[in-house]
Amino acid sequence: MFVLFQTVINTGKHYSFRKILNAPLPSCKCLLNRNISDAPKKFITFDEVVAQRRAEAQRSLVVQVNSESSFNELYGYCSRYASINGIHHYKNNGGEHFMLIEFASEDNLKDILRSCGSHHKDLDVMALQSPFLWFRAVANKKEKFTVPETQLINKDGTLPVNEDTLFEQLSHCKTVSDQIQVLYEHTMLNDLGVRLRYMVARQLETIMESLYANMAVRPFGSSVNGFGKMGCDLDLVLTNELTQEMTDPNKRLVYQEKKCEGGRSPWQRHMELMGELIELRVPGATRVQRILNARVPIVKYAHELSGVDCDLCYSNMSGVYMSELLWLYGSLDPRVRPLTFVIRRWAQTVGLTNPHPGRWITNFPLTLMVLFFLQQKTKDGFVLPPLKFMSKIATKDDIRIAEDYVNCTFVRDLNRLPPESYGQSQSNLQTLLLQFFEFYSQFDFQDKAISINEGAPVRKPNNLPLYIVNPIEQALNVSRNVSFEECERLKMEVRNAAWQLESCTEGDRTDDWGLLGLIEKRTTRGLKKLLRVGNSHRLVSVKDLFNEEDTSDKRLSKKSDKESAKVAQTVKVEKKEQKIKFKNTTIANEVYRIRRDKIV
Ligand code: CTP
Ligand code: MG
Repeated sequence: MFVLFQTVINTGKHYSFRKILNAPLPSCKCLLNRNISDAPKKFITFDEVVAQRRAEAQRSLVVQVNSESSFNELYGYCSRYASINGIHHYKNNGGEHFMLIEFASEDNLKDILRSCGSHHKDLDVMALQSPFLWFRAVANKKEKFTVPETQLINKDGTLPVNEDTLFEQLSHCKTVSDQIQVLYEHTMLNDLGVRLRYMVARQLETIMESLYANMAVRPFGSSVNGFGKMGCDLDLVLTNELTQEMTDPNKRLVYQEKKCEGGRSPWQRHMELMGELIELRVPGATRVQRILNARVPIVKYAHELSGVDCDLCYSNMSGVYMSELLWLYGSLDPRVRPLTFVIRRWAQTVGLTNPHPGRWITNFPLTLMVLFFLQQKTKDGFVLPPLKFMSKIATKDDIRIAEDYVNCTFVRDLNRLPPESYGQSQSNLQTLLLQFFEFYSQFDFQDKAISINEGAPVRKPNNLPLYIVNPIEQALNVSRNVSFEECERLKMEVRNAAWQLESCTEGDRTDDWGLLGLIEKRTTRGLKKLLRVGNSHRLVSVKDLFNEEDTSDKRLSKKSDKESAKVAQTVKVEKKEQKIKFKNTTIANEVYRIRRDKIV
Protein backbone atom coordinates (compact mmCIF):
# COMPACT_ATOMS: atom_id res chain seq x y z
CA MET A 1 0.00 0.00 0.00
CA PHE A 2 2.95 2.30 -0.08
CA VAL A 3 1.72 3.40 -3.52
CA LEU A 4 -1.33 5.05 -2.01
CA PHE A 5 0.50 7.40 0.25
CA GLN A 6 3.69 8.10 -1.57
CA THR A 7 5.11 11.43 -0.51
CA VAL A 8 4.90 14.28 -2.94
CA ILE A 9 8.32 15.47 -4.02
CA ASN A 10 8.90 19.09 -3.25
CA THR A 11 10.14 20.84 -6.32
CA GLY A 12 9.03 24.28 -5.41
CA LYS A 13 6.10 25.15 -7.61
CA HIS A 14 2.69 25.40 -6.01
CA TYR A 15 -0.03 24.25 -8.27
CA SER A 16 -3.64 25.11 -7.50
CA PHE A 17 -6.04 22.50 -8.82
CA ARG A 18 -9.11 23.88 -7.24
CA LYS A 19 -10.43 25.92 -10.11
CA ILE A 20 -9.68 23.27 -12.66
CA LEU A 21 -11.36 20.51 -10.83
CA ASN A 22 -14.94 20.44 -9.71
CA ALA A 23 -13.53 19.57 -6.33
CA PRO A 24 -15.62 17.51 -3.94
CA LEU A 25 -13.80 19.00 -1.00
CA PRO A 26 -14.77 22.59 -1.60
CA SER A 27 -11.98 24.53 -0.03
CA CYS A 28 -9.31 21.91 -0.49
CA LYS A 29 -6.48 23.98 -1.81
CA CYS A 30 -4.75 20.86 -3.06
CA LEU A 31 -1.48 22.69 -3.27
CA LEU A 32 0.63 19.94 -4.57
CA ASN A 33 4.14 20.46 -5.66
CA ARG A 34 4.87 19.57 -9.25
CA ASN A 35 7.64 20.00 -11.72
CA ILE A 36 7.74 23.38 -13.43
CA SER A 37 7.57 21.52 -16.73
CA ASP A 38 4.31 19.76 -15.79
CA ALA A 39 1.46 20.80 -18.02
CA PRO A 40 -1.70 21.84 -16.13
CA LYS A 41 -3.86 18.79 -15.58
CA LYS A 42 -7.62 18.72 -15.76
CA PHE A 43 -7.99 16.10 -13.03
CA ILE A 44 -6.01 15.25 -9.96
CA THR A 45 -5.94 11.76 -8.50
CA PHE A 46 -7.59 10.49 -5.34
CA ASP A 47 -4.16 9.56 -3.97
CA GLU A 48 -3.03 13.16 -4.37
CA VAL A 49 -6.05 14.49 -2.49
CA VAL A 50 -5.62 11.93 0.28
CA ALA A 51 -1.89 12.66 0.57
CA GLN A 52 -2.71 16.37 0.80
CA ARG A 53 -5.36 15.84 3.47
CA ARG A 54 -3.13 13.55 5.52
CA ALA A 55 -0.27 16.02 5.35
CA GLU A 56 -2.62 18.81 6.49
CA ALA A 57 -3.74 16.68 9.45
CA GLN A 58 -0.13 15.92 10.35
CA ARG A 59 0.59 19.61 10.77
CA SER A 60 -2.69 20.51 12.51
CA LEU A 61 -4.00 20.59 16.08
CA VAL A 62 -7.51 20.97 17.46
CA VAL A 63 -7.59 23.19 20.54
CA GLN A 64 -10.57 23.68 22.82
CA VAL A 65 -11.05 27.35 23.66
CA ASN A 66 -13.53 29.43 25.61
CA SER A 67 -15.12 31.11 22.60
CA GLU A 68 -14.31 32.42 19.13
CA SER A 69 -12.89 35.55 20.77
CA SER A 70 -9.99 33.42 22.06
CA PHE A 71 -8.62 33.64 18.50
CA ASN A 72 -6.28 36.63 19.08
CA GLU A 73 -4.73 35.10 22.16
CA LEU A 74 -4.36 31.63 20.68
CA TYR A 75 -2.92 33.01 17.46
CA GLY A 76 -0.55 35.33 19.37
CA TYR A 77 0.62 32.53 21.66
CA CYS A 78 1.19 29.90 18.99
CA SER A 79 2.74 32.24 16.43
CA ARG A 80 5.54 32.98 18.91
CA TYR A 81 6.71 29.42 18.42
CA ALA A 82 5.62 28.42 14.93
CA SER A 83 4.16 29.85 11.77
CA ILE A 84 0.47 29.32 11.22
CA ASN A 85 -1.28 28.64 7.91
CA GLY A 86 -4.77 29.28 9.23
CA ILE A 87 -7.26 28.81 12.06
CA HIS A 88 -10.82 27.49 11.75
CA HIS A 89 -13.46 27.74 14.48
CA TYR A 90 -16.32 25.34 15.24
CA LYS A 91 -18.61 24.26 18.04
CA ASN A 92 -19.36 20.63 18.91
CA ASN A 93 -22.82 19.28 19.76
CA GLY A 94 -22.38 20.31 23.39
CA GLY A 95 -21.80 23.94 22.36
CA GLU A 96 -18.10 23.84 23.29
CA HIS A 97 -15.74 25.92 21.16
CA PHE A 98 -12.74 24.59 19.27
CA MET A 99 -10.12 25.90 16.88
CA LEU A 100 -8.38 23.80 14.30
CA ILE A 101 -4.92 25.29 13.71
CA GLU A 102 -2.96 24.35 10.64
CA PHE A 103 0.76 25.06 11.04
CA ALA A 104 3.13 25.65 8.15
CA SER A 105 4.89 22.31 8.60
CA GLU A 106 4.91 19.14 10.64
CA ASP A 107 8.17 20.31 12.23
CA ASN A 108 6.38 23.48 13.33
CA LEU A 109 3.79 21.35 15.02
CA LYS A 110 6.44 19.29 16.76
CA ASP A 111 8.15 22.51 17.91
CA ILE A 112 4.99 23.89 19.33
CA LEU A 113 4.15 20.71 21.20
CA ARG A 114 7.70 20.51 22.53
CA SER A 115 7.58 24.12 23.74
CA CYS A 116 3.98 24.47 24.89
CA GLY A 117 2.36 21.04 25.18
CA SER A 118 1.59 20.04 28.75
CA HIS A 119 -0.64 17.73 30.75
CA HIS A 120 -3.19 18.43 33.45
CA LYS A 121 -1.57 17.51 36.73
CA ASP A 122 -4.70 17.32 38.87
CA LEU A 123 -6.54 14.67 36.96
CA ASP A 124 -6.36 11.06 37.93
CA VAL A 125 -5.62 9.81 34.43
CA MET A 126 -2.59 8.40 32.68
CA ALA A 127 -1.04 11.06 30.48
CA LEU A 128 -1.24 10.68 26.72
CA GLN A 129 -0.45 12.74 23.64
CA SER A 130 -2.89 13.33 20.82
CA PRO A 131 -3.62 16.22 18.45
CA PHE A 132 -6.62 17.32 20.57
CA LEU A 133 -5.67 19.88 23.27
CA TRP A 134 -7.15 22.76 25.27
CA PHE A 135 -5.94 26.31 25.82
CA ARG A 136 -5.25 27.09 29.47
CA ALA A 137 -6.03 30.51 30.90
CA VAL A 138 -3.11 32.17 32.71
CA ALA A 139 -3.89 32.97 36.29
CA ASN A 140 -3.33 36.58 37.42
CA LYS A 141 -1.41 37.86 34.44
CA LYS A 142 -2.59 39.21 31.15
CA GLU A 143 -0.15 38.66 28.33
CA LYS A 144 0.14 41.11 25.45
CA PHE A 145 -0.08 39.72 21.92
CA THR A 146 0.38 41.42 18.60
CA VAL A 147 -2.69 41.73 16.41
CA PRO A 148 -2.98 38.59 14.22
CA GLU A 149 -1.98 39.01 10.60
CA THR A 150 -4.95 36.96 9.48
CA GLN A 151 -8.52 36.44 10.57
CA LEU A 152 -10.37 33.30 11.56
CA ILE A 153 -10.94 31.33 8.36
CA ASN A 154 -14.44 30.50 9.49
CA LYS A 155 -16.64 30.89 12.53
CA ASP A 156 -18.91 28.03 13.55
CA GLY A 157 -17.57 26.21 10.52
CA THR A 158 -19.36 22.90 11.02
CA LEU A 159 -22.84 24.31 11.55
CA PRO A 160 -25.16 22.72 8.98
CA VAL A 161 -27.27 25.09 6.93
CA ASN A 162 -30.57 25.96 8.55
CA GLU A 163 -33.34 24.03 6.78
CA ASP A 164 -35.75 27.00 6.65
CA THR A 165 -33.05 29.19 5.10
CA LEU A 166 -32.24 26.46 2.61
CA PHE A 167 -35.86 26.08 1.53
CA GLU A 168 -36.23 29.84 1.31
CA GLN A 169 -33.22 29.94 -1.02
CA LEU A 170 -34.51 27.04 -3.07
CA SER A 171 -37.84 28.77 -3.49
CA HIS A 172 -36.03 31.77 -5.01
CA CYS A 173 -34.09 29.75 -7.60
CA LYS A 174 -35.04 30.37 -11.22
CA THR A 175 -34.67 26.77 -12.43
CA VAL A 176 -34.72 23.29 -10.96
CA SER A 177 -31.11 22.87 -12.10
CA ASP A 178 -30.21 25.90 -9.98
CA GLN A 179 -32.09 24.38 -7.06
CA ILE A 180 -30.10 21.16 -7.37
CA GLN A 181 -26.84 23.09 -7.48
CA VAL A 182 -27.83 25.20 -4.44
CA LEU A 183 -28.82 22.10 -2.48
CA TYR A 184 -25.47 20.51 -3.29
CA GLU A 185 -23.38 23.54 -2.39
CA HIS A 186 -25.22 24.13 0.88
CA THR A 187 -25.28 20.59 2.19
CA MET A 188 -22.02 19.04 0.99
CA LEU A 189 -19.34 18.23 3.54
CA ASN A 190 -17.19 21.35 3.72
CA ASP A 191 -13.44 21.79 4.03
CA LEU A 192 -13.47 21.96 7.83
CA GLY A 193 -15.67 18.85 7.98
CA VAL A 194 -13.08 16.97 5.94
CA ARG A 195 -10.16 18.35 7.95
CA LEU A 196 -11.77 17.27 11.21
CA ARG A 197 -12.39 13.78 9.90
CA TYR A 198 -8.72 13.45 8.98
CA MET A 199 -7.83 14.77 12.47
CA VAL A 200 -9.94 12.05 14.08
CA ALA A 201 -8.10 9.47 11.95
CA ARG A 202 -4.76 11.06 12.82
CA GLN A 203 -5.59 10.93 16.51
CA LEU A 204 -6.10 7.16 16.38
CA GLU A 205 -2.87 6.81 14.42
CA THR A 206 -0.80 8.76 16.93
CA ILE A 207 -2.21 6.77 19.82
CA MET A 208 -1.89 3.33 18.23
CA GLU A 209 1.32 3.70 16.24
CA SER A 210 3.60 2.29 18.91
CA LEU A 211 1.52 -0.90 18.98
CA TYR A 212 1.54 -1.66 15.28
CA ALA A 213 4.33 -1.17 12.73
CA ASN A 214 3.40 1.03 9.76
CA MET A 215 -0.07 1.54 11.09
CA ALA A 216 -2.42 3.85 9.18
CA VAL A 217 -5.99 4.91 9.86
CA ARG A 218 -7.74 6.01 6.68
CA PRO A 219 -11.10 7.63 6.23
CA PHE A 220 -13.25 6.06 3.53
CA GLY A 221 -16.93 6.13 2.55
CA SER A 222 -18.86 9.37 2.21
CA SER A 223 -16.27 11.42 4.16
CA VAL A 224 -13.89 11.12 1.22
CA ASN A 225 -15.82 9.84 -1.81
CA GLY A 226 -17.24 13.26 -2.71
CA PHE A 227 -20.83 12.33 -1.84
CA GLY A 228 -20.69 13.19 1.88
CA LYS A 229 -22.99 15.75 3.40
CA MET A 230 -22.39 17.89 6.48
CA GLY A 231 -22.55 15.78 9.61
CA CYS A 232 -22.05 12.46 7.79
CA ASP A 233 -20.55 9.55 9.69
CA LEU A 234 -16.88 8.79 9.44
CA ASP A 235 -15.90 5.34 8.17
CA LEU A 236 -12.35 4.47 9.19
CA VAL A 237 -10.14 1.58 8.27
CA LEU A 238 -7.08 0.51 10.17
CA THR A 239 -4.29 -1.07 8.14
CA ASN A 240 -0.79 -2.13 9.04
CA GLU A 241 0.56 -3.46 5.81
CA LEU A 242 4.30 -3.81 5.46
CA THR A 243 6.15 -1.91 2.77
CA GLN A 244 8.72 -3.56 0.50
CA GLU A 245 11.42 -1.72 2.39
CA MET A 246 10.20 -3.11 5.70
CA THR A 247 10.39 -6.68 4.41
CA ASP A 248 13.73 -6.33 2.62
CA PRO A 249 15.33 -9.82 2.77
CA ASN A 250 18.81 -8.27 2.76
CA LYS A 251 18.31 -6.69 6.15
CA ARG A 252 19.48 -9.14 8.75
CA LEU A 253 18.07 -7.87 12.02
CA VAL A 254 14.50 -9.06 11.93
CA TYR A 255 11.92 -8.11 14.55
CA GLN A 256 10.49 -10.84 16.73
CA GLU A 257 6.72 -10.84 16.18
CA LYS A 258 3.73 -11.74 18.29
CA LYS A 259 1.39 -14.24 16.72
CA CYS A 260 -2.27 -13.90 17.56
CA GLU A 261 -3.29 -17.16 19.23
CA GLY A 262 -6.66 -18.54 20.24
CA GLY A 263 -9.64 -19.85 18.33
CA ARG A 264 -11.13 -16.55 17.18
CA SER A 265 -10.05 -14.65 14.13
CA PRO A 266 -7.10 -12.30 14.73
CA TRP A 267 -9.17 -9.40 13.32
CA GLN A 268 -11.78 -9.93 15.98
CA ARG A 269 -9.14 -9.97 18.71
CA HIS A 270 -7.49 -6.81 17.40
CA MET A 271 -10.80 -5.04 17.06
CA GLU A 272 -11.67 -6.04 20.60
CA LEU A 273 -8.43 -4.44 21.71
CA MET A 274 -9.22 -1.36 19.63
CA GLY A 275 -12.55 -1.06 21.43
CA GLU A 276 -10.79 -1.14 24.79
CA LEU A 277 -8.11 1.31 23.72
CA ILE A 278 -10.61 3.73 22.23
CA GLU A 279 -12.61 3.63 25.44
CA LEU A 280 -9.56 4.08 27.67
CA ARG A 281 -7.06 6.07 25.65
CA VAL A 282 -8.77 8.22 23.04
CA PRO A 283 -9.74 11.69 24.32
CA GLY A 284 -13.19 12.64 23.08
CA ALA A 285 -14.31 9.08 22.31
CA THR A 286 -17.58 8.10 24.00
CA ARG A 287 -20.38 5.54 23.56
CA VAL A 288 -18.04 2.84 22.29
CA GLN A 289 -19.86 -0.15 20.78
CA ARG A 290 -18.16 -3.32 19.59
CA ILE A 291 -19.82 -5.24 16.78
CA LEU A 292 -17.34 -8.06 16.48
CA ASN A 293 -19.36 -10.94 15.15
CA ALA A 294 -20.22 -9.25 11.88
CA ARG A 295 -18.52 -10.32 8.62
CA VAL A 296 -16.44 -7.16 8.96
CA PRO A 297 -15.99 -6.55 12.72
CA ILE A 298 -16.37 -2.89 13.61
CA VAL A 299 -16.04 -0.59 16.59
CA LYS A 300 -18.43 2.35 16.63
CA TYR A 301 -17.86 5.43 18.75
CA ALA A 302 -18.91 9.03 19.00
CA HIS A 303 -16.06 11.53 18.89
CA GLU A 304 -17.37 14.29 21.08
CA LEU A 305 -14.60 16.84 20.54
CA SER A 306 -15.20 16.90 16.81
CA GLY A 307 -18.89 15.97 16.82
CA VAL A 308 -18.30 13.07 14.43
CA ASP A 309 -19.71 9.53 14.73
CA CYS A 310 -17.13 6.94 13.72
CA ASP A 311 -17.15 3.33 12.48
CA LEU A 312 -13.73 1.71 12.63
CA CYS A 313 -12.95 -1.51 10.82
CA TYR A 314 -9.76 -3.43 10.20
CA SER A 315 -7.94 -4.09 6.95
CA ASN A 316 -10.77 -3.31 4.54
CA MET A 317 -8.88 -1.83 1.61
CA SER A 318 -11.60 -2.78 -0.85
CA GLY A 319 -13.83 -0.22 0.93
CA VAL A 320 -11.12 2.42 0.39
CA TYR A 321 -10.78 1.52 -3.31
CA MET A 322 -14.53 1.61 -3.66
CA SER A 323 -14.49 5.15 -2.24
CA GLU A 324 -11.76 6.02 -4.71
CA LEU A 325 -13.89 4.68 -7.55
CA LEU A 326 -16.90 6.77 -6.50
CA TRP A 327 -14.66 9.80 -6.09
CA LEU A 328 -13.31 9.32 -9.63
CA TYR A 329 -16.79 9.04 -11.10
CA GLY A 330 -17.85 12.15 -9.20
CA SER A 331 -14.84 14.09 -10.50
CA LEU A 332 -15.42 13.16 -14.11
CA ASP A 333 -18.42 15.38 -14.70
CA PRO A 334 -19.66 18.34 -12.60
CA ARG A 335 -23.26 17.08 -12.72
CA VAL A 336 -22.60 13.75 -10.99
CA ARG A 337 -22.32 14.97 -7.39
CA PRO A 338 -25.19 17.49 -7.38
CA LEU A 339 -27.48 14.90 -8.99
CA THR A 340 -26.47 12.23 -6.47
CA PHE A 341 -27.00 14.65 -3.61
CA VAL A 342 -30.54 15.48 -4.64
CA ILE A 343 -31.40 11.82 -5.14
CA ARG A 344 -29.96 10.84 -1.76
CA ARG A 345 -31.89 13.69 -0.20
CA TRP A 346 -35.12 12.73 -1.95
CA ALA A 347 -34.69 9.09 -0.85
CA GLN A 348 -34.25 10.24 2.74
CA THR A 349 -37.32 12.48 2.54
CA VAL A 350 -39.64 9.77 1.26
CA GLY A 351 -38.20 7.29 3.77
CA LEU A 352 -36.51 4.97 1.29
CA THR A 353 -33.25 5.32 3.19
CA ASN A 354 -32.91 5.38 6.92
CA PRO A 355 -29.84 5.94 9.11
CA HIS A 356 -30.41 2.59 10.84
CA PRO A 357 -29.50 -0.69 9.17
CA GLY A 358 -32.44 -2.76 7.95
CA ARG A 359 -34.25 -4.22 4.95
CA TRP A 360 -34.05 -0.98 3.00
CA ILE A 361 -31.64 0.49 0.50
CA THR A 362 -28.74 2.62 1.80
CA ASN A 363 -26.88 5.56 0.32
CA PHE A 364 -24.06 3.50 -1.16
CA PRO A 365 -26.19 1.28 -3.47
CA LEU A 366 -28.38 4.28 -4.25
CA THR A 367 -25.27 6.11 -5.44
CA LEU A 368 -24.45 3.14 -7.68
CA MET A 369 -27.96 3.43 -9.13
CA VAL A 370 -27.25 7.08 -10.02
CA LEU A 371 -23.91 6.23 -11.62
CA PHE A 372 -25.53 3.40 -13.56
CA PHE A 373 -28.22 5.74 -14.85
CA LEU A 374 -25.55 8.23 -15.95
CA GLN A 375 -23.85 5.49 -17.96
CA GLN A 376 -26.97 5.00 -20.09
CA LYS A 377 -27.02 6.33 -23.58
CA THR A 378 -29.79 8.87 -23.93
CA LYS A 379 -30.71 10.79 -27.10
CA ASP A 380 -27.71 13.07 -26.69
CA GLY A 381 -25.28 10.50 -25.32
CA PHE A 382 -24.07 9.31 -21.91
CA VAL A 383 -22.38 11.07 -18.99
CA LEU A 384 -20.16 8.34 -17.52
CA PRO A 385 -18.23 5.40 -18.97
CA PRO A 386 -18.73 1.83 -17.73
CA LEU A 387 -16.20 0.53 -15.22
CA LYS A 388 -15.01 -2.13 -17.67
CA PHE A 389 -13.69 0.72 -19.82
CA MET A 390 -11.91 2.28 -16.82
CA SER A 391 -10.31 -1.11 -16.13
CA LYS A 392 -9.39 -1.67 -19.75
CA ILE A 393 -7.25 1.44 -19.98
CA ALA A 394 -5.57 0.87 -16.60
CA THR A 395 -1.79 0.55 -16.59
CA LYS A 396 0.51 -1.32 -14.25
CA ASP A 397 0.60 1.70 -11.92
CA ASP A 398 -3.11 1.25 -11.39
CA ILE A 399 -2.89 -2.30 -10.14
CA ARG A 400 -4.32 -2.63 -6.64
CA ILE A 401 -5.10 -5.91 -4.96
CA ALA A 402 -7.14 -5.79 -1.74
CA GLU A 403 -7.60 -8.49 0.91
CA ASP A 404 -8.64 -11.92 -0.33
CA TYR A 405 -6.97 -11.09 -3.66
CA VAL A 406 -9.82 -8.83 -4.72
CA ASN A 407 -8.72 -7.04 -7.86
CA CYS A 408 -9.31 -3.27 -7.55
CA THR A 409 -7.53 -2.24 -10.73
CA PHE A 410 -8.98 0.65 -12.74
CA VAL A 411 -7.56 3.82 -14.20
CA ARG A 412 -6.57 6.32 -11.50
CA ASP A 413 -5.48 9.22 -13.65
CA LEU A 414 -8.63 10.54 -15.32
CA ASN A 415 -6.52 12.66 -17.68
CA ARG A 416 -5.90 9.43 -19.54
CA LEU A 417 -9.56 9.03 -20.48
CA PRO A 418 -10.33 10.07 -24.04
CA PRO A 419 -12.67 13.10 -23.99
CA GLU A 420 -15.31 11.26 -26.00
CA SER A 421 -15.56 8.59 -23.29
CA TYR A 422 -17.49 10.78 -20.85
CA GLY A 423 -19.69 13.88 -20.58
CA GLN A 424 -21.34 13.35 -23.97
CA SER A 425 -24.85 14.17 -22.82
CA GLN A 426 -25.46 17.91 -22.57
CA SER A 427 -28.64 17.56 -20.49
CA ASN A 428 -28.95 19.88 -17.54
CA LEU A 429 -29.50 18.70 -13.97
CA GLN A 430 -33.26 19.11 -14.14
CA THR A 431 -33.51 16.90 -17.21
CA LEU A 432 -31.16 14.33 -15.73
CA LEU A 433 -33.18 14.18 -12.52
CA LEU A 434 -36.40 13.60 -14.39
CA GLN A 435 -34.72 11.05 -16.63
CA PHE A 436 -33.39 9.25 -13.54
CA PHE A 437 -36.89 8.82 -12.14
CA GLU A 438 -38.28 7.81 -15.53
CA PHE A 439 -35.46 5.36 -16.14
CA TYR A 440 -36.08 3.51 -12.88
CA SER A 441 -39.87 3.73 -13.31
CA GLN A 442 -39.39 1.51 -16.34
CA PHE A 443 -36.48 -0.60 -15.16
CA ASP A 444 -37.03 -4.36 -15.17
CA PHE A 445 -36.13 -5.04 -11.53
CA GLN A 446 -37.71 -8.50 -11.85
CA ASP A 447 -35.14 -9.91 -14.27
CA LYS A 448 -32.32 -7.42 -14.45
CA ALA A 449 -29.42 -6.46 -12.24
CA ILE A 450 -27.71 -3.07 -12.16
CA SER A 451 -24.03 -3.26 -13.03
CA ILE A 452 -21.82 -0.20 -13.32
CA ASN A 453 -19.12 -2.55 -14.62
CA GLU A 454 -21.13 -3.19 -17.76
CA GLY A 455 -23.01 0.10 -17.83
CA ALA A 456 -26.01 -1.89 -19.02
CA PRO A 457 -28.57 -4.12 -17.30
CA VAL A 458 -27.42 -7.72 -16.84
CA ARG A 459 -29.35 -10.89 -16.05
CA LYS A 460 -30.07 -11.39 -12.37
CA PRO A 461 -28.27 -14.50 -11.06
CA ASN A 462 -30.93 -15.08 -8.38
CA ASN A 463 -34.36 -13.81 -7.52
CA LEU A 464 -33.51 -11.33 -4.79
CA PRO A 465 -35.81 -8.33 -5.21
CA LEU A 466 -33.05 -5.80 -5.91
CA TYR A 467 -29.74 -6.78 -7.45
CA ILE A 468 -26.92 -4.22 -7.68
CA VAL A 469 -23.62 -5.81 -8.63
CA ASN A 470 -20.75 -4.93 -6.31
CA PRO A 471 -18.40 -3.19 -8.77
CA ILE A 472 -15.28 -4.57 -7.11
CA GLU A 473 -16.44 -8.04 -6.10
CA GLN A 474 -18.81 -8.79 -8.93
CA ALA A 475 -20.14 -11.99 -7.42
CA LEU A 476 -21.74 -9.95 -4.63
CA ASN A 477 -24.97 -7.99 -4.52
CA VAL A 478 -24.62 -4.74 -2.53
CA SER A 479 -28.39 -4.58 -2.03
CA ARG A 480 -28.98 -8.15 -0.90
CA ASN A 481 -30.54 -6.85 2.33
CA VAL A 482 -33.39 -5.09 0.48
CA SER A 483 -36.76 -6.77 1.01
CA PHE A 484 -39.45 -7.28 -1.60
CA GLU A 485 -41.63 -4.61 0.08
CA GLU A 486 -38.83 -2.06 0.10
CA CYS A 487 -38.07 -2.75 -3.55
CA GLU A 488 -41.75 -2.26 -4.39
CA ARG A 489 -41.68 1.01 -2.45
CA LEU A 490 -38.63 2.11 -4.40
CA LYS A 491 -40.46 1.45 -7.68
CA MET A 492 -43.52 3.32 -6.46
CA GLU A 493 -41.53 6.29 -5.17
CA VAL A 494 -39.57 6.75 -8.42
CA ARG A 495 -42.87 6.78 -10.32
CA ASN A 496 -44.35 9.30 -7.88
CA ALA A 497 -41.26 11.45 -8.11
CA ALA A 498 -41.29 11.45 -11.92
CA TRP A 499 -44.93 12.50 -11.87
CA GLN A 500 -44.38 15.09 -9.14
CA LEU A 501 -41.35 16.65 -10.83
CA GLU A 502 -43.06 16.85 -14.17
CA SER A 503 -46.23 18.37 -12.81
CA CYS A 504 -44.41 20.76 -10.47
CA THR A 505 -42.23 22.30 -13.12
CA GLU A 506 -45.05 23.04 -15.51
CA GLY A 507 -47.34 26.01 -15.14
CA ASP A 508 -47.31 28.45 -12.20
CA ARG A 509 -44.78 28.37 -9.42
CA THR A 510 -46.51 26.94 -6.38
CA ASP A 511 -45.10 26.13 -2.95
CA ASP A 512 -44.20 22.69 -4.25
CA TRP A 513 -42.38 24.03 -7.26
CA GLY A 514 -39.40 22.02 -8.48
CA LEU A 515 -37.32 20.39 -5.79
CA LEU A 516 -39.40 21.65 -2.89
CA GLY A 517 -42.10 19.11 -3.64
CA LEU A 518 -39.52 16.35 -3.72
CA ILE A 519 -37.27 16.99 -0.76
CA GLU A 520 -39.46 18.66 1.82
CA LYS A 521 -41.34 16.27 4.07
CA ARG A 522 -45.00 16.23 3.12
CA THR A 523 -46.20 16.72 6.71
CA THR A 524 -43.88 19.69 7.21
CA ARG A 525 -44.97 21.16 3.90
CA GLY A 526 -48.65 20.78 4.74
CA LEU A 527 -48.13 22.45 8.05
CA LYS A 528 -46.07 25.25 6.62
CA LYS A 529 -48.82 25.96 4.13
CA LEU A 530 -51.25 26.39 6.97
CA LEU A 531 -48.87 28.67 8.79
CA ARG A 532 -48.19 31.07 5.98
CA VAL A 533 -49.06 34.61 7.07
CA GLY A 534 -50.89 36.73 4.52
CA ASN A 535 -48.94 37.25 1.33
CA SER A 536 -45.65 37.79 3.03
CA HIS A 537 -44.54 34.27 2.13
CA ARG A 538 -42.38 34.25 5.21
CA LEU A 539 -42.30 30.80 6.67
CA VAL A 540 -42.83 30.30 10.37
CA SER A 541 -40.48 27.73 11.81
CA VAL A 542 -42.46 24.75 13.10
CA LYS A 543 -40.25 24.49 16.15
CA ASP A 544 -40.94 28.12 17.06
CA LEU A 545 -44.57 27.21 17.49
CA PHE A 546 -43.90 24.92 20.33
CA ASN A 547 -41.87 27.15 22.54
CA GLU A 548 -42.88 27.56 26.16
CA GLU A 549 -45.72 29.96 25.39
CA ASP A 550 -48.38 28.43 23.24
CA THR A 551 -48.44 30.50 20.11
CA SER A 552 -50.37 28.02 18.02
CA ASP A 553 -53.18 29.41 15.97
CA LYS A 554 -56.47 28.38 17.56
CA ARG A 555 -58.20 28.74 14.22
CA LEU A 556 -56.33 25.86 12.68
CA SER A 557 -58.63 23.14 11.45
CA LYS A 558 -59.18 19.94 13.34
CA LYS A 559 -56.84 18.11 10.97
CA SER A 560 -54.08 20.63 11.36
CA ASP A 561 -54.56 20.52 15.15
CA LYS A 562 -53.89 16.83 14.96
CA GLU A 563 -50.86 17.38 12.78
CA SER A 564 -49.57 20.14 15.04
CA ALA A 565 -49.99 17.92 18.06
CA LYS A 566 -48.08 15.16 16.32
CA VAL A 567 -45.25 17.50 15.35
CA ALA A 568 -45.29 19.04 18.82
CA GLN A 569 -44.90 15.63 20.31
CA THR A 570 -42.05 14.79 17.95
CA VAL A 571 -40.35 18.07 18.75
CA LYS A 572 -40.81 17.41 22.46
CA VAL A 573 -39.38 13.92 22.11
CA GLU A 574 -36.49 15.33 20.06
CA LYS A 575 -35.84 17.97 22.71
CA LYS A 576 -36.01 15.33 25.42
CA GLU A 577 -33.61 13.08 23.50
CA GLN A 578 -31.21 15.94 23.00
CA LYS A 579 -31.34 16.66 26.67
CA ILE A 580 -30.75 13.04 27.62
CA LYS A 581 -27.92 12.72 25.13
CA PHE A 582 -26.24 15.78 26.53
CA LYS A 583 -26.68 14.56 30.08
CA ASN A 584 -25.16 11.18 29.28
CA THR A 585 -22.17 12.59 27.52
CA THR A 586 -21.60 15.03 30.35
CA ILE A 587 -21.55 12.24 32.86
CA ALA A 588 -19.37 10.03 30.71
CA ASN A 589 -16.82 12.73 30.39
CA GLU A 590 -17.05 14.27 33.80
CA VAL A 591 -13.55 13.28 34.73
CA TYR A 592 -12.08 14.79 31.60
CA ARG A 593 -14.06 17.99 31.58
CA ILE A 594 -11.99 21.05 32.10
CA ARG A 595 -13.67 23.81 33.95
CA ARG A 596 -14.68 26.55 31.57
CA ASP A 597 -12.94 29.27 33.57
CA LYS A 598 -9.63 27.49 33.04
CA ILE A 599 -9.86 27.70 29.26
CA VAL A 600 -9.01 30.82 27.31
N1 CTP B 1 -19.00 -0.34 0.96
C1 CTP B 1 -18.67 -1.39 0.14
N2 CTP B 1 -19.55 -2.41 -0.05
C2 CTP B 1 -20.76 -2.42 0.58
C3 CTP B 1 -21.10 -1.35 1.43
C4 CTP B 1 -20.19 -0.32 1.60
O1 CTP B 1 -17.59 -1.39 -0.43
N3 CTP B 1 -21.59 -3.42 0.38
C5 CTP B 1 -18.01 0.74 1.14
C6 CTP B 1 -18.25 1.89 0.17
O2 CTP B 1 -17.02 2.45 -0.19
C7 CTP B 1 -19.03 2.86 1.02
C8 CTP B 1 -18.35 2.64 2.37
O3 CTP B 1 -18.10 1.26 2.43
O4 CTP B 1 -18.90 4.18 0.55
C9 CTP B 1 -19.12 3.09 3.57
O5 CTP B 1 -20.41 2.53 3.56
P1 CTP B 1 -21.65 3.34 4.10
O6 CTP B 1 -21.25 4.05 5.34
O7 CTP B 1 -22.81 2.42 4.15
O8 CTP B 1 -21.93 4.36 2.92
P2 CTP B 1 -21.43 5.84 2.67
O9 CTP B 1 -21.04 5.92 1.22
O10 CTP B 1 -20.37 6.22 3.65
O11 CTP B 1 -22.74 6.71 2.86
P3 CTP B 1 -23.34 7.36 4.21
O12 CTP B 1 -23.17 8.83 4.05
O13 CTP B 1 -24.76 6.94 4.22
O14 CTP B 1 -22.57 6.80 5.38
MG1 MG C 1 -20.61 6.10 5.80
